[in-house]
Amino acid sequence: MAILKVRIGSLELSNPVIAASGTFGYGMEFAERLDLAAIGAFSTKGLSLKPRGGNPMPRICETPCGMINSIGLENVGVDAFEMDKLPAIRKSGAKVIANFFGETEEEYTELARRLDAMDGVHALEMNVSCPNVEKGGIEFGSDPAFLEKLTAGVKKVCGKPLIVKLSPNVADIKPFAKAVENGGGDAISAINTLKGMSVDVKTRRPRIKRVIGGLSGPAIKPVAVRMVYECARTVKIPVIGLGGIASLDDALEFLIAGATAVQVGTMNFVEPGICQRLAEELNAYCEKEKIADIASLIGSLITE
Ligand code: SIN
Repeated sequence: MAILKVRIGSLELSNPVIAASGTFGYGMEFAERLDLAAIGAFSTKGLSLKPRGGNPMPRICETPCGMINSIGLENVGVDAFEMDKLPAIRKSGAKVIANFFGETEEEYTELARRLDAMDGVHALEMNVSCPNVEKGGIEFGSDPAFLEKLTAGVKKVCGKPLIVKLSPNVADIKPFAKAVENGGGDAISAINTLKGMSVDVKTRRPRIKRVIGGLSGPAIKPVAVRMVYECARTVKIPVIGLGGIASLDDALEFLIAGATAVQVGTMNFVEPGICQRLAEELNAYCEKEKIADIASLIGSLITE
C-alpha cells in the first residue's frame, strides 16, 4: 500500500479524499453507500447557532457540466447536530470536519467554541464564502484585513485545526489566502461556488428563485485548479482543493497543482460512493506509478 496519509494541521487523514460540505448532509445519510471510515474525512453542511430553513424554492438547477444552488445555508443548528447527528457519526469511525458560519463575529466565535469542545469533531471549516445569504457568507470573506481578524479571533477559542473556505468571487484570491495564514488558520479550502445564473427562456424566469446562485461541478474545475495553484504558492499552510472533481485525474490535477487534500462536492449527488472509489483509485495509481508516499505528488507541477 502506498502512503496516502496527509496532515491538516494536527489532524492526520488516512487519505486525502474529503467529501465537501453541503453535498454530504451530516455524513450518516451516505453510510449505506460507502464506508465513512475509508475516506479521508467529510465536511458537514454548514452549521449555525440556530436552525435555518434556507432560501425559497426553486433553489437548485442543472447547468451544462454543473449545477447552480441557492440553498441559503439551511441546517439543523448546532444543538441538534450535537444531540441527534454526532452520536451515530462518532460510532462510524469517520473523521469529521464541522463546517460553520455566523451572522456576526461573535456568532462565528461562539460556534467555534462549541464545535471545538465536541467529541467526534476533528476539525472546523469556517465558511466565509457562501454567495447565497445576506449575512454570514461572502461578506465575511471579501476583505483580507477583516478575514485575518476574524480568523485570529476564532483561532483563539479553537484548539482543533481551523480550515477557512475561500470564495472564488474575488479579483485576486492570494491576499485572502495570506490573511488566513496571518490570522493563524491551519489550512485553506478553495474554492466555494462561483456566482452564476440561469434563465428559462420559455417562461423568461430565472431558474433559481433568488435569481443568482453558486455554480459548482466540472464546469468550474479549471478556475478552481488555477486558484488552488495560486493559494499554494502564496502560503505555507495546506490548501485543500475543490471544484468539479469527478475522476481520479481531476483529483490528481489538484494535488499536482499544490493541494494537500481534495474535496469532492457536486459529484456526490451523481455517485454517492465516489469519495471511497477515488481514495481506492488513488492508492492503485500510486502503486502502479511506484509513488511510495503521496507527499511526493503534492505540488509536483513542472512548469519549465
Ligand atoms: C448554501 O447553503 O447556499 C450553499 C453554501 C455555500 O455556498 O457555502
